[in-house]
Amino acid sequence: MAVKRPSGPRGSFLLGSANQFREDEPTFLLESIKTYGDLVYFRLANMHTYLVGHPDLVREVLVTQGDKFEKAALDKKILGKFLGNGLLTSDGDFHKRQRRLAQPAFHSKRIQNYAEVMVDYTHQIMARWQNGSVVDVTEEMMHLTMLIVSKTLFDADVITGAADTAAAIGSAMHDFQAVSNRDYQRGFSLPGWIPTADNRLRSKAAAQFKQVMDQIIAGRRRTAVNGQVEDTGDLLSMLMLAVDEDGAVMDDRQLRDEVATLFAAGHETTSNALSWTWYLLAQHPEVEAKLHAELDTVLAGRQPTLADLSNLPYSLQIIKESMRLYPPAWILNGRAALEDVQVGDYTIPKGSTIFISPYAMHRLPQYFNEPETFRPERFTPEFEKALPKFAYMPFGGGARVCIGNAFAMMEAQLLLAAIAQRFRLVLANDEPVRYKAQITLTPAGGIKMRLVERETAVTTPPQSELSFA
Ligand code: HEM
Repeated sequence: MAVKRPSGPRGSFLLGSANQFREDEPTFLLESIKTYGDLVYFRLANMHTYLVGHPDLVREVLVTQGDKFEKAALDKKILGKFLGNGLLTSDGDFHKRQRRLAQPAFHSKRIQNYAEVMVDYTHQIMARWQNGSVVDVTEEMMHLTMLIVSKTLFDADVITGAADTAAAIGSAMHDFQAVSNRDYQRGFSLPGWIPTADNRLRSKAAAQFKQVMDQIIAGRRRTAVNGQVEDTGDLLSMLMLAVDEDGAVMDDRQLRDEVATLFAAGHETTSNALSWTWYLLAQHPEVEAKLHAELDTVLAGRQPTLADLSNLPYSLQIIKESMRLYPPAWILNGRAALEDVQVGDYTIPKGSTIFISPYAMHRLPQYFNEPETFRPERFTPEFEKALPKFAYMPFGGGARVCIGNAFAMMEAQLLLAAIAQRFRLVLANDEPVRYKAQITLTPAGGIKMRLVERETAVTTPPQSELSFA
């Protein structure tokens, strides 16, 4: 029997809509929903794709019927080559077990200990900043979030000095992401044994990452007392100490996959969220002025702490609105239907791929008035309460919701507050910045900004000893 499909762009006989999709993926998805409705069908070469465009249907796929889907083969193939069988790329019972084991590391009490580290590193970065100089803000944010993730994940500076370890892992991660981006662009990933330049680069990066991680993990095991590793306060300690109900713990390979996953998922996302925020603030002086007023009233030049965050609601609204317009995860990993699944009025056949795009959802006018306008004021508690769940979803949802959600929000708000009270970041030229839809939504060509020290700024020297206490 012929499958009844929702409507959607037809594309060409051979490639379907692959070319239009590739031209500008986020816009293609948004326009498809606007044109065809809540569920859209299109073909990307031989991949039958269903795009979900309604919050209730997103709930169906991620929550109500979430167990009828798994991560799509293409995502697992591309990302799994480096991240192995970690949280992002695993499925089913194995994923459930890993999530159970990893969850305590992200308990709010635990991650709150990282607030001080986040602010101290921010001050270290700002100590290098010269009033009036021009920087690429995307590079600065990437470097900063990478230092923070290295410290909070495996206490990097205790091992070999933060700079060395973070740089070694960072460059491996950078190569892996570059190769993965090219695989996504092509729409396929050649088997690892074929000696292409990209495969060689990825193998080298994976070996480099393995070497550093094995060294770190072995070091922890060496200092263990009665088989119990010391809790040094970082995320790796928690992962190494985690014991499942049946007494199982993670072996070294699994630990490495999880650390790679947290490192990859945990810094470019937050860094892009901040870079877009600086870009938007520079274009909206009225928002920037209101932010400064909030910071000057609450902090009066002092460096922000965890306790301040609840008194900085406008800063939080800015982050939320920035991630509405430029969600770092512009699309979730594809989902593959494990069986025929009824979603709304349609049956999605087994083997089809489902796309869910935070970028597209966040720009639908039925949920966001004047969706293209940057207006942090819209994020009032009343508005958020009235907003259908999954109309706003920068961190995904359901069983696979981002495990680092609270970590990322705390980091983004602290870094915004710490930097904005000392510096204004002013666009160095009038060129509009466009996005590049890679694994994350990245500013194409970076964002050049001039650092302008604020007169009200009080310089607090960074602390010399960093600890999680
Ligand atoms: C602004 C920053 C961040 C954004 C926008 C973001 C977004 C997301 C999204 C949308 C997903 C779901 C992917 C899917 O369903 O296909 C996800 C998953 C994940 N994120 Fe994040 N993330 C951020 C920061 C972080 C941080 C800081 C960490 C860790 C330190 C992290 C670790 C993870 C992991 C491990 C997963 C997989 C969870 C699972 O499948 O069980 N993320 N993230």
